[in-house]
Amino acid sequence: MKKLVILTGAGMSAESGISTFRDSDGLWEKYRVEEVATPEGFAANPELVLDFYNQRRRELLKTAPNAGHTGLAELEKYFEVFIITQNIDNLHERAGSKHIIHLHGELMKSRSTAYPYTVYDLDPEAPDIRLGDKDEKGYQLRPHVVWFGESVPMIEPAIELARQADIFVVIGTSLNVYPAAGLLHYVPKGTPIYLIDPKDVDAHRSDVHFIKAGASEGVKQLAALLLKQEGTNTNGTV
Ligand code: APR
Repeated sequence: MKKLVILTGAGMSAESGISTFRDSDGLWEKYRVEEVATPEGFAANPELVLDFYNQRRRELLKTAPNAGHTGLAELEKYFEVFIITQNIDNLHERAGSKHIIHLHGELMKSRSTAYPYTVYDLDPEAPDIRLGDKDEKGYQLRPHVVWFGESVPMIEPAIELARQADIFVVIGTSLNVYPAAGLLHYVPKGTPIYLIDPKDVDAHRSDVHFIKAGASEGVKQLAALLLKQEGTNTNGTV
């Protein structure tokens, strides 16, 4: 089976009702990044930061995967699918995708402020992290999210996947934030690259096939295109 590697961003979850960051009504229009998504912001006002993520976690619990997420899970019948997501939501998991790398962390997890590898699942019935919630050693818990200025521990395995891709797809990201945006540079010349986005995105490469659509419609078009190329139609016969 061919390796289908997919980089997703906030646009992947837009049709599930989750705000993107840099669209006109995006999150960074409403909040100052420095205050809610940096270690300095957390040190200065931990309750503001904990509340910012508590609110996004409660919203997440009210959403569901969209047809774009489920369409990608479907493709696992025909390809070895690896998803590299910048999103901290769990919609790819809930849609049934099996191989997912979260570059920027996971909203439904918390971790120790002292031991970054001490990570806990959050209970959907009690999704908040509050000041005073501690790990076993008595250190405050924080969102298991990569803030601006922090390292991206999962970038190495993601680069490996980009290098090995037989087909590379980018869905719903403005390619503004590195190192995630830089993954495209590791995709070998000659590997087919598709980009799904309703707007124009500068991929800094001339060999990209653009599908100008939202995630649900775009994934449908991509699946039809890829399966046609593989000589498989969608009911699985060759
Ligand atoms: N379907 C597909 N793409 C969409 C849709 C949709 N329905 N709606 C919007 N988009 C596209 C936008 O056109 C834009 O290109 O999704 C992209 C969203 O871009 P950003 O808001 O910049 O989100 P993203 O690229 O994921 O941001 C990267 O920045 O703030 C950090 O950590 C945060 O992971 C995030 C990172």
